[in-house]
Amino acid sequence: MPNLTVNGVAHAIDADPDMPLLWVLRDRLDATGTKYGCGIAQCGACTVHLDGQPVRACQTRIGDVGTAQVTTIEGVSGRVAEAVQAAWRKLDVVQCGYCQSGQIMSAIGLLSGNAKPTDADIDGAMDGNICRCGTYQRIRAAIHEAARSLA
Ligand code: FES
Ligand code: FES
Repeated sequence: MPNLTVNGVAHAIDADPDMPLLWVLRDRLDATGTKYGCGIAQCGACTVHLDGQPVRACQTRIGDVGTAQVTTIEGVSGRVAEAVQAAWRKLDVVQCGYCQSGQIMSAIGLLSGNAKPTDADIDGAMDGNICRCGTYQRIRAAIHEAARSLA
């Protein structure tokens, strides 16, 4: 029975180790802020952090998580996360919102490792996060804004 630590809380999950992490988060743990978009690692809606690194939860087997700390949009905290969330609000990034949990998780991952990303860095890091509403320009501006506020 795989054990998962999600947002700092340990859970014994009675499920097949092959079950995707996204299913466990949404259907077993009610962490529905993480979205299902494609199920094949093509949209980024399901992005969560494993030990701080963005991963696609739809393509992550729970049996492969091991002792890594899982963080979802419900559990993000700290200086970078607060700066990203504030920048998102300030620039009114969100349109329908469906992709935005994943966008924010990827943005936090980027800024945690690169305090002053260029446009190319942002485009590279955010490339796998699709937004059907086309909020890409605001996302890019909000990441720069968050970087400025953290400097
Ligand atoms: S649902 Fe995981 S990448 Fe689309
Ligand atoms: S805000 Fe609607 S899909 Fe991105």
